[in-house]
Amino acid sequence: MVHENFEHCKEGKSVNLRIMLPNMSFNMMMHLVFNKKYFNTKQSSIKKCEVFNDFLIEELHLQGLFNISDNVSFLKPFDLRCFLPRGKNILMKMDQFFDKILHDHQIDQKENVESKDFVDMLLSSSQVNNYNYTLDDNRIKGIINDMLTRGTNTLSTTIEWAIAKLVRNPKIMKRIQDELDHVMGHDCIVDEDDIPQLKYLQAVVKKTFRLHVTIPLITHECMTNCKVGGYDILARTPIIVNLWTIH
Ligand code: HEM
Repeated sequence: MVHENFEHCKEGKSVNLRIMLPNMSFNMMMHLVFNKKYFNTKQSSIKKCEVFNDFLIEELHLQGLFNISDNVSFLKPFDLRCFLPRGKNILMKMDQFFDKILHDHQIDQKENVESKDFVDMLLSSSQVNNYNYTLDDNRIKGIINDMLTRGTNTLSTTIEWAIAKLVRNPKIMKRIQDELDHVMGHDCIVDEDDIPQLKYLQAVVKKTFRLHVTIPLITHECMTNCKVGGYDILARTPIIVNLWTIH
């Protein structure tokens, strides 16, 4: 996908980043977690990914909505905004998708298929585990879900902000281009190994993280009574941390 867009730009054609970036980060995460097994050029596979991407978008949308029942303790038993059936429905669909993935991987493992991906690693650590808990199928599905939901929109939104800033600051854009040309030569695609040498690019990425926090508010819940900054926090109190003000 990166190569395709690179060629597009070389021909002077425009690229719609708002569409391209989420697709790119979703493909990267699918590649990372499923080792391309669920993303290749086969039409059926692309369709499957598109359907799953729709589930992810719905899940992220639901997570981002404000739910008064989560924050006002006496409203907890009431699902005032009817989120519960929507949440259950989407989780059930994702669960079926993950079941199929685990099932396919378990079959591959039995047949000793060579290629190993993140799911294979999780499945093998569920068998050999030095820790005091079992990495059962439900936990594995939770980890996969975390990777896919956390690693897609965060990436694409940050890249979109960085590029928007650079378009509005041509001098900085030019400095990055000069650094890229100097370090890697002209017409090359950046590889992971090149990153340590690209100091200015790294600084721009860090500045983008600071200026445009993609998840400005995060909610945590303490498991036991504790003290934070001199305040007593009771167990199970939801704490909303404002990352945007910390930067
Ligand atoms: C620009 C990119 C990213 C940003 C800005 C970002 C930001 C964040 C933030 C703010 C949190 C919440 C931390 C907390 O609750 O204390 C988080 C959690 C997490 N992120 Fe990222 N992230 C990014 C990319 C990724 C990627 C690529 C992955 C996967 C490979 C990932 C996986 C996770 C996971 C698994 C969690 C924990 C989720 C949970 O506890 O429910 N993130 N990320």
